[in-house]
Amino acid sequence: MIEHHKDLTSLTTFHVPAVAEQYCKVTTIDEARSVIQIAKEQKKSLKILGGGSNILLTKDLNSLVLHTCIDGMKTEVNTSTTLLTVNAGVEWHSLVSYCVENSLGGIENLALIPGFVGAAPIQNIGAYGVEIADVLESVTLLDLNTLEQYTLSNSECKFGYRDSIFKRSLAGKVLIVSVSLLLTNTNHKINYSYKDVALELELHSINTPTIADVFSAVVSVRKRKLPDPNVLGNAGSFFKNPVIPKTLLEEIQRQFPTIPSYKYDDENVKVAAAFLIENVGMKGYRSNEVGTHIHQPLVLVNYGNGTGGEVLELAHTIIEKVKSTFGITLQTEVNIW
Ligand code: EPU
Repeated sequence: MIEHHKDLTSLTTFHVPAVAEQYCKVTTIDEARSVIQIAKEQKKSLKILGGGSNILLTKDLNSLVLHTCIDGMKTEVNTSTTLLTVNAGVEWHSLVSYCVENSLGGIENLALIPGFVGAAPIQNIGAYGVEIADVLESVTLLDLNTLEQYTLSNSECKFGYRDSIFKRSLAGKVLIVSVSLLLTNTNHKINYSYKDVALELELHSINTPTIADVFSAVVSVRKRKLPDPNVLGNAGSFFKNPVIPKTLLEEIQRQFPTIPSYKYDDENVKVAAAFLIENVGMKGYRSNEVGTHIHQPLVLVNYGNGTGGEVLELAHTIIEKVKSTFGITLQTEVNIW
């Protein structure tokens, strides 16, 4: 059923206010098809909302918001692997917990990432050395124009760092219905190379960690470093870590020798946006009801009564300061609506 003048404040993790002219929560593919059809007939722009964990609402929406809440999953167990096909409306972290509890390996490093499964491939969610692209087999979609269902393989999704075909040529053209992940039953590929995770395991004297150990370590690190969106409104990293030419890095290193950098390709490196923001004096910065997080300035926060406009203004201030000090233009990771 379509609701009118729907308050979206509680539906995004930034908890900033905005009203949608029309809104509909869908729990089946058929319901989704009907809502898409209505938007087409009424020539209304359609906006797709999942867990709301990567969206900043900056104004009221003159659109029909389709809230995709299709629940459920299917399991296909083989000898050494399990193929899990998970519907878009499943909460990502409950999926991770389910996998760890059932000894399925592959996504334990992606614990506590807020949001729904359907959004995960769009920005190729990643943390602590693992991305969803590492285990994703395929994505099933609904074409918003023809209403036909089809499937893309991993390589067809054109995954990159926080990037995929869903942010590019398919942006605004499809609804993600489900995601299939290929997980290990045994001989798990345990990844604890990321410094924070390795230190956490060391702290507990764990030398040969299981997937459950890695999961617990990631949960501890995230709880310590990142704000809980239920307590302090935020959408995780607001900006991407920028990819810059090696030559620019060398120039920056003359003044900032400790800047963290990671291999990207032969000519370019990825640098830590958090370092850039900290070094323009914006770590823990607060302006009225919005600011940057005290432990991780890449995360912009709403202290309670902030608006999307205020968060966006802060983001622009950060972009300008980083640009003038480092010659780097930060790009937002969060979708601005
Ligand atoms: N750093 C600073 N100052 C700070 C915080 C960090 O200089 O205040 C430097 C540190 O040297 C640190 C480096 O930045 O070594 C990287 O920091 P961190 O390990 O916190 O990771 P990140 O690169 O800032 C990325 C993802 C996070 C993900 C972590 C862990 C992006 C945009 N963000 O952050 O993802 O959890 O790595 O893998 O790639 C998200 O996308 O919402 C998100 C939280």
